[in-house]
Amino acid sequence: MAKIIDGKSLATRIKAEIKAEIERDKLNVGLAVVIVGNDRASEIYVKYKKDDCAECGIQSFEYALPEYVCLEDLLELIEELNDDENINGILVQQPLPRHIDAVTVNETISPFKDVDAFRADSLGKIALGDYDFSPCTPAGIMEMLHNENISVSGKECVVIGRSAIVGKPMALMLLHEDATVTICHSKTRDLGEAARRADVLVAAAGCPGLVGADMVKEGAVVIDVGMNRDESGKLCGDVKFAEVSGKASYITPVPGGVGPMTRAMLMKNALMAKRLQL
Ligand code: GUN
Repeated sequence: MAKIIDGKSLATRIKAEIKAEIERDKLNVGLAVVIVGNDRASEIYVKYKKDDCAECGIQSFEYALPEYVCLEDLLELIEELNDDENINGILVQQPLPRHIDAVTVNETISPFKDVDAFRADSLGKIALGDYDFSPCTPAGIMEMLHNENISVSGKECVVIGRSAIVGKPMALMLLHEDATVTICHSKTRDLGEAARRADVLVAAAGCPGLVGADMVKEGAVVIDVGMNRDESGKLCGDVKFAEVSGKASYITPVPGGVGPMTRAMLMKNALMAKRLQL
């Protein structure tokens, strides 16, 4: 049976360390959280992020804009937040309504306040291996691996998903730690064949139950980034947890795995933003 990597308790520990550091150095850290429209899932994620801020002693400032807001008004708000000394980090919850160009929004956020590391230059710095802001989900996954003393050096790591937020930066961060990395996606000819080669398999496709035991090598480490809803509305990952945990050596659950770690890394980035601005 696989060991379950408890992301929730590790995140709680990291947040306590962040809180202690903020108190020790008497810092005022402020994070702006911008949400557009009424997407129920986004509303829940934003509430969690505000709760995390409170837990860390970070002040959160929520800006809820209506679904029909125009791009210019949203950019104007971001410019104001860029100039506001009380705001150290800016997060615009995604997805955005279809009439809003997310790339333009991300590029308007100050590079010193880009706590999601969504800007093109933030991703470029990650590619070069010299960066201030870590992309939150891949950083949270690396923390979980380090905490379990799992080294990826020389290992076969397979990332399913090529998003700019998770798949691409994940592959780069594994590469920086000397893994042999394969990125798979919807056009990959034989996903099962690639996945079965993985010593470390990261499933970030957004497809409920995509990864079954037949796609996993005996003893592999399986990281589930999926945040999906099944037919009954229950939260589920990309991995069939019950059958894969019988074959893997380590596995992350959904919920309670990658999600809380992603948010803990956001808190870390908010503190990093404050230090960059001192
Ligand atoms: N939507 C889903 N995940 C994220 C995230 O990490 N940051 C933002 N801004 N939006 C998201």
